[in-house]
Amino acid sequence: MRSTTIGLMRVAVAGLALAAAGCDLGLPAGRSPHREGNRLDMIDQPKLKPQRADIFGGRPTGTLEAPAGAVAIDETPYPYKQAQAAEAAALVNPLPHSPEVIAHGKFVYENVCITCHGPKGAGDGTLTLVFPKPPSLMTQKVRDWADGEIFHRPMRGQGSMPSHARQLDARDMWSVVHYVRQMQSVEPVAPASAPASGATPAAGASAGQAQPVPTAAAMNSISGGRS
Ligand code: HEC
Repeated sequence: MRSTTIGLMRVAVAGLALAAAGCDLGLPAGRSPHREGNRLDMIDQPKLKPQRADIFGGRPTGTLEAPAGAVAIDETPYPYKQAQAAEAAALVNPLPHSPEVIAHGKFVYENVCITCHGPKGAGDGTLTLVFPKPPSLMTQKVRDWADGEIFHRPMRGQGSMPSHARQLDARDMWSVVHYVRQMQSVEPVAPASAPASGATPAAGASAGQAQPVPTAAAMNSISGGRS
């Protein structure tokens, strides 16, 4: 009789242990792990789920954030702040002006920059119907900039242009600089445009590109390709 009781207790303890183990399987509340015979379904195994804050009794799990200042292997954080364009001017483009690099720069430009800066850097991208129009990248001012300054502005953002540091790494950005140089070598010099910040066409803006007014017709033509 005694041994039967002990046996029953053992089963109960084993059952409790299994139930407790179920808590660690990362299952939604109320669902028990699916088993085929003695096999646990592969989806019901202990694992970290990024959206699940706490399955291991309060210890941090998949939601662990990288400590402040952590740097990924092979990542070189860009050191200059937005106002340090002059310091960035001293940076030297580490990539060769080769067809491969220019092709990569064209790829990045046509996927990221073209929406605002336009197919030839004139500042006439389709987004400018609804977003402040950037100055042309073909002006003498930008031609005279060091590579590092062209690198710096999209990296840290300028005026209404946001920083692109989260989308693009240094290789992408230096390739774009080569591509901008390539365009400058074939496109005519653009007249200096009124400062884009403020987005109000100044008196002298007629010399440059007039700010398009986003009318309903213009908005509709966004999907119809570039004019
Ligand atoms: C969302 C629109 C947008 C995108 C995308 C964008 N830019 Fe800009 N960019 C602007 C605007 C607007 C300005 C002018 C900002 C100001 O001075 O107020 C600007 C300014 C610049 C300038 C400085 C030009 C000058 O004469 O002051 C450079 C260089 C530049 N962008 C390069 C790039 C490159 C390279 C990319 C792609 C990696 C890029 N931008 C993506 C909108 C954009």
